[in-house]
Formats: sequence, structure tokens, C-alpha cells
Amino acid sequence: MATVAAPQAPASATPRDPYMPFRTFPEQHKALGMILNNPIHYLTSRIGMFGDMFRLRFYYTRPMYFTINADVVQHVLQENHRNYTKGDMYQQLGLLLGNGLLVSEGEFWLRQRRIAQPAFHRKRLAGMADDMTAAGLVMIDRLRPYAASGQPLDIAKEMMRVTLDVVCRTMFSADLAQHAETVDRAFSAANEGINKRVIRPVNVPMFMPTAENRKLREAIGILHKLMDDTIADRRREPNRHDDLLTMLMQTEDADTGERMNDRQLRDELITIFLAGHETSANALTWCLYLLSQNPEIEQRLRHEVNAALPDGKTPGFDDLPRLGYVSQVIQEAMRLYPPAWSVVRNAKQDDVAAGYRIRRGHNVFISVYHLHRNPQHWPDPERFDPERFGPDAPKDRHRFAYMPFGGGPRLCIGNNFALMEMQLLLAMLVQNFRWAHRLGHRVELEPLITLRPKHGIELVLQKASASSR
Ligand code: HEM
Repeated sequence: MATVAAPQAPASATPRDPYMPFRTFPEQHKALGMILNNPIHYLTSRIGMFGDMFRLRFYYTRPMYFTINADVVQHVLQENHRNYTKGDMYQQLGLLLGNGLLVSEGEFWLRQRRIAQPAFHRKRLAGMADDMTAAGLVMIDRLRPYAASGQPLDIAKEMMRVTLDVVCRTMFSADLAQHAETVDRAFSAANEGINKRVIRPVNVPMFMPTAENRKLREAIGILHKLMDDTIADRRREPNRHDDLLTMLMQTEDADTGERMNDRQLRDELITIFLAGHETSANALTWCLYLLSQNPEIEQRLRHEVNAALPDGKTPGFDDLPRLGYVSQVIQEAMRLYPPAWSVVRNAKQDDVAAGYRIRRGHNVFISVYHLHRNPQHWPDPERFDPERFGPDAPKDRHRFAYMPFGGGPRLCIGNNFALMEMQLLLAMLVQNFRWAHRLGHRVELEPLITLRPKHGIELVLQKASASSR
């Protein structure tokens, strides 16, 4: 993948409008076609030409700012975050997530965030490690026959299954994993359908019975029903589990004393369900792929895991401090392949960010993928180098040069959960298997709402030998 060049922000004190390259409809039409085809490829080629902040306009819609400027990002997400909402692009996500945490705004968001936050407290996370490794053991059992036969498998699917299992066990105490295939298909269809609606400047209203709308409605319906059934089951036995679902059901609003209704519960449930499994699955998938391309790093990882977990001991919460290199590998994989590859905000009022004028009502599109490859912050950005996150990493790196979990008040609520889950699962995979990328398998990015590999990642597994332990 080509490295992006990053021209500097203007030094002048007078705010200026970022460069807008296309003025005519045919030019805009061509650019839109390329973006719809693959926004990452398009942006890679254009950032070098137009700079680290530019505007694109499509037909009569408002121009949109594209940025990989860390100062602009910090301003929008943190310093002046009150001036920004998630905007119309997230409204499309609302078709699936209703008014859940990821898309809600203002007072309502704050209230819901306060209710959910304790579920992610460090003390609770410690108690979740065993559930995570229990899901990991089931995954290892599922993978063993592939290692024995040498038959290739799509590891992306397996990572989706195991992270789904983890989120079900830890958040809902439910074995929704039995619906893994259905959920995976429905999520893929919903992801694809919503993504198209996010990118297009104009959409056919959802009530119109087009083939695309029908497919999207069906996928959303399946997922909503699954959540509704889970809530109905729990209403019958409200005190059966001490988990996120119980917490959401029992918390009362401090002002009104009201509890969440079934609709609100469903929105939060499906949000955690979506945000909490696909992202981690993609991160792990890319991690395994990168390791297959970098044998020396894989070797060093193996060494650390086997020293920290003698005789194939299943990792636990207390082992995590000894698995520092595992964590570095994961962080570096998320630099190159951030699962949430873009973050968007909409300006409520005119603003100035790092010398650039941002106009009211316009969207700011942060390409996290390109920000993480900005050579201003990342020397030799294409190289997979976990040392970037090691003890000797530069201390003066820009705080917003790396943001796989977003930033500011809307920082991912599940970041520590995800890091722990990925550390445990990757260590278990290393303990049990070696792997190689299947020769001839094509790797291509699919930048939907999350960054998936378009054709999965096909690996050939081998049992890790006792000597490699
Ligand atoms: C590698 C894994 C993950 C990545 C890369 C990731 C990434 C992100 C990002 C970038 C945001 C901010 C979006 C924005 O500002 O518009 C976000 C928000 C969120 N994430 Fe994650 N996430 C991950 C795992 C999880 C997990 C495991 C959970 C829950 C179990 C979770 C739940 C959420 C929720 C609820 C929000 C909305 C928070 C709010 O606005 O208050 N995420 N995530």
C-alpha cells in the first residue's frame, strides 16, 4: 500500500478554507465513483496531492472536510468537542443502533454512558478474563482439526465467532454464539447496506421497497429480534446474572426514577453487541496476517508467550503484565489496520481548527487509516514494527497521531476490554498454533464501517510443536 505524503498545515494566523479541488459536476461525479469503489485507495492517492486537510463537494451537497492532521483531529474530538455532533452519517447507523451509545448525543448520551461505564471498570474486567479464555478454548478446539489436516481456513470468520462468543458470555451471560452464522450473515448485510447509505450523498428512503432496502431491513430485523428475545428472557428471570444487561435494566434515572424501556435496552444491547465484537475480530485477523508476513516478530512473540506461560498454561488476568510484547503487536496491527478506520463529526457552528476554517453544518471526515500512516508522526509508516509501542517509543508523539479507539469524551467505552480480550486470545493462538498465509490468497481491504479483509484471510495452521514452546 502506498504511503501518504503529508503536507504541513498553513502557518498563517488568518484562517483559510482548505483546498477544494473539484468544481464541476463531471469532476465530482468521477471522484464520487472512485470513493464509492474504495474510499481508502481514493484517499491514499489524493492526500499526497491535496494535503492533510482538504474539501470535497458532491453535486449540491455541502462540502466535506477530509483530514489526517493530528492538530485538527485533537481540536474537533477534544478541545472544541462541544461544537461537534456525530451528524448525519451516524444517523444511517441509527437504523440498526437506534439511539444507542455510539450514535446518541447530548444529555441522553451522557446518562446512558454513566449507566454503562461501571460495566467496564477495571475490577469487573478482571472477572471477565476467565470467560474470555473459556471462549478461547472453544475456538482452539474448533481450529485443531484444521491444524491436523492442513486444510486452509478463513481466520476472519473464526475471529468473528470467538469475539461474538466473548461479548455474549461477558456482557449478556448468554450463549448467543449458537446463532453465530446467522448473526455474522446479518451483520455483514447490515454493515454493507448501511455503509452504502453512509457514503452516498443521496439515498432512496427506507420505506421504498427496493432490493437493497429489503435486504437491509431483513438483516436489521433479524438482529433486533435476537436482542428482543434476549431482553424478554431476562425479564422473566431478572436476577439470574450479574452482567451488563442486568445493570442496564436495573439502573434508575437519578431525576425521574425511570428505568430503561425495552426499546432503549435493545438499542444499547445491539450497540455493544456490534461495537464489541466485529472491531476486535478485525484487529485480531489483521494481526495474524501481519505476523504471517513477519516471521522474526512472530518468533519473538512466541518466545515471550512461552516464557510467560510455561507448559502451555492458559493465560489469565494476572499474566497480562508479562505479555507486554503481545500488546505491542496488537497496537501496531491496529495502527496499520485500524478496525474503525474513519471517524466523522459535524460542526454545529463555524470554527477554526489548526488554522483551517470549518463551516457550520459541514462534516469533518477523519481517516484514521491515513492518520496512522502519516509520515510526520510515523517514520517508515508501512513497516510493521511493534517497537513503536515499546518502552523506548518516542515520548513526544502527538496524542492524536494514534487513535484506534477514537478520542475525547466519545472515546471507546470498551477499549480496555478489547485490549485484554485480544491479548488473551492472541497468546492462546500462539501457544497452540503456527500459521502461514495460504499461497495465492488475495488480500484486499474492504473499508465498510469497519475495516475488513474483503476475501477474508486464509491461513494454513500447524500445531505448535513442544520445542517451539
Ligand atoms: C479493537 C476493538 C475496538 C475498536 C477498534 C473500537 C473503536 C471505537 C471507536 C473508534 C469509537 C469512537 C467512535 C466515534 O468517536 O465516533 C468507539 C466507540 C464505542 N465503542 Fe469501541 N472499539 C472496539 C471495541 C469495543 C468493545 C469491545 C466494546 C464493548 C464491549 C465497544 C463499545 C463501544 C461503544 C459503546 C462506543 C460508543 C461510546 C460513546 O460514544 O460513548 N468497543 N469504539
